[in-house]
Amino acid sequence: MNLKKMITKDIENSLIKIGIINCNPIVILNKKITLGHYQLNNLIKIANMLNIKPYELSKTIIANIKKKSMYKSITFSQPGFINIFIDENWISEQLEKIFFSSRLGINYVKSPKNIVIDYSSPNIAKEMHIGHLRSTIIGDVTARILDFLGHNVIRANHIGDWGTQFGMLIAYLENKKLENYNLSLIQLEKCYCKAKKKYDTDQSFAEKSREYVVKLQNGDQYCRSIWKKLVSITMLENYNIYKKLNVTLKESHTMGESVYNKMLPDIIRDLKNKKIATKKNGAIIVFLQEFKNRSGEPMGVVIQKKDKGFLYSTTDIACFKYRYQELHADRIIYYTDSRQHQHLIQTWTIAKKANYISQDFLLEHHTFGMILSKNKRPFKTRDGNTIKLSALLDEATERAIYLIKNKKPNLPKKKWISLAKIIGISAVKYADLSKNRSTNYIFDWDEMLNFEGNTAPYIQYAYTRIISILKKSIIPVNKLTEKILLKKESEINLAIKILEFEEIIVSISEKGTPHILCKYLYQLATIFSNFYEKCSILFSKKIKTCKSRLKLSILTARTLKKGLNMLGIKVVKKM
Ligand code: ARG
Repeated sequence: MNLKKMITKDIENSLIKIGIINCNPIVILNKKITLGHYQLNNLIKIANMLNIKPYELSKTIIANIKKKSMYKSITFSQPGFINIFIDENWISEQLEKIFFSSRLGINYVKSPKNIVIDYSSPNIAKEMHIGHLRSTIIGDVTARILDFLGHNVIRANHIGDWGTQFGMLIAYLENKKLENYNLSLIQLEKCYCKAKKKYDTDQSFAEKSREYVVKLQNGDQYCRSIWKKLVSITMLENYNIYKKLNVTLKESHTMGESVYNKMLPDIIRDLKNKKIATKKNGAIIVFLQEFKNRSGEPMGVVIQKKDKGFLYSTTDIACFKYRYQELHADRIIYYTDSRQHQHLIQTWTIAKKANYISQDFLLEHHTFGMILSKNKRPFKTRDGNTIKLSALLDEATERAIYLIKNKKPNLPKKKWISLAKIIGISAVKYADLSKNRSTNYIFDWDEMLNFEGNTAPYIQYAYTRIISILKKSIIPVNKLTEKILLKKESEINLAIKILEFEEIIVSISEKGTPHILCKYLYQLATIFSNFYEKCSILFSKKIKTCKSRLKLSILTARTLKKGLNMLGIKVVKKM
């Protein structure tokens, strides 16, 4: 249920009744609910637009609002607000539905969409590094949420498994007689660097590499088998990382660049036939009027090189076509570094020109900022290298072990290691997910492992506290049959916050912004803690009150757990 949307709609309708349309009322959930649970925030603006006094307008809105059982009272306050109080009995009825629902009362969408989410997408023969963290975990939250809402989510791990580098690698491994050797990913990456150097300095090696690229593209058995091995060595390591990160990507989600290889010659032919692409200096290029290069001329996007090789852009044009025409995507969401925005816009524009996707198809590129160190420079190792994701996650666990050892010296060793894995990695994930994805953020171990503030340990701990209260209760859950009573301010506050959950989830499904959910969970946890301070739960005087408060606590715990689960963060029973 989306209370904010319901109220907004009612206000809109009350304005339509008096002939006012398109004035976009802004309704917010009040921080201090004594002033009204919800508030219309832009009454003054609307009144100014209509040239009437806010008070006069408020009278008309209030008089025209549908008298529903959901409203307790709607009042005006100076200088220009409308305060909306929701009826406590009505809230209680809603909570009842949520309490007995396995989905916390959240409905499936009425018309499920096919949604492709392009995320993580690391490159073969290289270890995943810090640059892949954001794409991987933010993309996964969106995937989980859209899944939960009932959409048909197609996770697409667009791995970089194609291109000239594979010719180099095959030639290098053969040269060093390593092609049948069981290399680790670290060794493979070293070979990759050496192969690249050799390619730039050794003519005959470069020749051989190019020959192998062509062979690989034509399906040559020998080249293909080495290539397959490189992919599997890399992805095996990556699945380890996905597992550690509790990310839902599986082997079946891999749809790398190589998938589109077969389509590329036809795409080139078609773009030439449609006069979208032209030949210039031996290469095939699409000149885009909509983008200008530095000298003010239409920007050229090369789609086939002089040596007949295809490019990253060619693949993405084919990829748009495939996702739209074969996978019937209604939405395609990209979680890719913002530096690739230009590339995506260009390939999307070409795909549209060629009618591979419909003219109104949106490009949803959910960009994200950089991860910085405390000196505001890109976060790197001490010697200035990129931080490998596996090393980062190991450090997270180590730091959490240290933390837990100090906090709980009596816990058996086995327990604190398994606990530390959850706490450490959740902290890294949460620190990232809780920042607005479009901005840079500073990576700070102390902050993310803090038990206070908007952090994973704080929320996880809040959850364990509720669980321990519930454990102490002697009333079984199936005996909690009476309705929730909402009398005290802190009870109402908590109840309204619980009702807000669906609205938060739906908004992330539209914008791919997990930080909204983090903020919500943080607020929910603090509101619960206030409720716990003000209201005795287990020792309330009346059994009715006790039961009601237990139900509120259960609902809070379930919401926290579900919310964390959507972030791909595990809860623990004790910490
Ligand atoms: N492999 C690329 C990289 O590591 C990201 C791929 C993004 N997806 C796409 N369809 N281009 O930068």
